[in-house]
This record gives sequence, structure tokens and C-alpha cells, in this order.
Amino acid sequence: MARVEAEVYHIPVMLQECLDGLNLTSDEIYVDGTLGGGGHTAAMLERAPEGAVIVSFDADEQAINHCSSRFAEELSKGESSRLRLMHANFATMAEVLKGEHVQGVLLDLGVSSYQFDHHHRGFSFRMAAPLDMRFTPDGLTAADIVNTFTEEQLVNIFRDYGDEPQSRRIAKAIVQRRSIAPFTTTVDLRDVVVQHIPPQHQPKTMARLFQALRIAVNDELGRLQHTLESIIPLLAQGARIVVMSYHSGEDRIVKNVFRDHPEQLRILTKKAVEAAPEELARNPRSRSARLRIAERR
Ligand SMILES: C[S@@+](CC[C@H](N)C(=O)[O-])C[C@H]1O[C@@H](n2cnc3c(N)ncnc32)[C@H](O)[C@@H]1O
Repeated sequence: MARVEAEVYHIPVMLQECLDGLNLTSDEIYVDGTLGGGGHTAAMLERAPEGAVIVSFDADEQAINHCSSRFAEELSKGESSRLRLMHANFATMAEVLKGEHVQGVLLDLGVSSYQFDHHHRGFSFRMAAPLDMRFTPDGLTAADIVNTFTEEQLVNIFRDYGDEPQSRRIAKAIVQRRSIAPFTTTVDLRDVVVQHIPPQHQPKTMARLFQALRIAVNDELGRLQHTLESIIPLLAQGARIVVMSYHSGEDRIVKNVFRDHPEQLRILTKKAVEAAPEELARNPRSRSARLRIAERR
């Protein structure tokens, strides 16, 4: 039953490739930085030796609540539990795990299907909801950004985080529209796109804008870079870092951080690994996934 619920919450992407990449063979600590529905964490618990401990982070309270139920039995073992759930940003993992020997870290970036499908967070343009997009209820919302950033800043966000070819046109339209009324919901943003972009391009444009705003709201690229750099000193020899990205900006950061630490890291994936055709057919979310793996020397 728990497994069925978790699959509805989010179908884990490239599960086998991630498990192989993590090389779960030691009685040490393995970290899942992006717990979500717990798909990868569950498989890590199954695959890792009895003495290993899995520490799983999520900034989103709903993911933690969902997984507290999913893993209730394991968590009920208290001190001897092989799983620890951390309701925290993964950017804090080096601080949280200071002094520990970490044997592997997994990051499956972005948002879960559950977050997309639950309209009140404003992650999806398909549903009317407040224009929020924060993983945790602090800091600027997506509405704050579209209502207060300069036109040039909006152009940069849409271009750099969404690869949006019409960034300039959309940013200009947003600035015009907000002088009449501030943006409050996903529908307000959709209306701007509907007015300025031909119908056949609208869904892709909206997907790119929403992704770009979400990345900006949660400082996803800054936190990714910080996390990768700060975790390297905690990695035991032979430990693996396995990162799955869904956007070229994320993938570039992973590639560059791996490449910029040649004395500490050996890159195990010369090219980013993509999902196999069977998985692509089964799970459309795997289409944009790019997996990179490095090993601590
Ligand atoms: C793609 S989902 C992970 C799905 C998970 N691997 C599974 O199999 O169910 C990404 C998750 O990471 C969380 N997340 C994204 N960025 C985060 C961050 N900087 N810190 C902590 N959690 C984050 C999101 O809230 C979301 O639940």
C-alpha cells in the first residue's frame, strides 16, 4: 500500500542508475538530499548494508509528512533506525553532517510530481493558485519577483533559468501589466503569455517561465553549487556524488563543480547519462533528466 501511494506522489527517475552510481556497499552514511515521495530513499534502504544509515532531506514539509507515514515502521525504531528524515534545505547538509563520514550523496533536483499537481503551491501553470513557488514559507514569492524586479532582471531570469527565447517580450509585457494591477495568481501570469505568444507556443513558454521563476524563488542554482562544494570535504574515500538535473543551468553547475575539483573528485560519467528508452516511454518526467556521478579520491 505504501508503495502505491509513493508512486502516485512521484515516480523515481533513473532509480537503477542512481543506486548503481551510489555504490551502496559500506556501513556508513548515505544522503538523499531530495527525499520527495521517498522513492530513491526506499530503494537505498533496501540496497544498502544493514549497518548503513540513510539521511534524507527535504525543504518541503509535505514531503517530510508523506515520508514520515511511508517509513513509519523504520522510523519507529528510534536510535536504531536506519533512516533519518531532515526537514531542511539540502544546502545545510555539510553543516548537519559535520564530523561524519559520508559515503554517498544523491540529489534528484527540482520538484516532485506531487508538488506540481497540488495547485496551492503555484508550481504549475495548469492550475489557478497563488503565485508562490517557495519550498518553505519564507523569502520572496514568485509574485514578489514579477511585481518588483526590474525588466532587465526579469529578462535575465527567464533567459538564464528558463532558456526562454521570448524573455524580453514577456518581461516587457509583465512590467506593463503590473502598472495596472499587481500579479497575485498563476492565472495572471498565464494571461500575459496568452496575450503575447502564439497559441501553439503557449504551453512550452509557460513551462519555461514557471521553471525559471521557481529556480529564482528558491535560489536553486546557488544552493546547488554551495551544496556540492561544501560536501566534498565530508566525503570518505571512494564516496560517490550522484546528481540528477532537469535543466541545462543545473547540469552545467554539476559538470563544472566536478571538473573544478580534480584533486578531490574523479568523474565517472564523461557525458551525462540519460534515461533508457523503456523508462522514457513509461515516465515522461525522465525525458529531461541528466545524471552525473563523481567519486571522492
Ligand atoms: C524530484 S523531487 C525528488 C523525488 C524523489 N527522488 C522520489 O523518488 O520521490 C525533488 C524534491 O527535492 C526537494 N527539494 C528541491 N530542492 C531542495 C533543496 N534545496 N533542499 C531540500 N529539498 C529540496 C523538493 O521539495 C522535492 O520534494
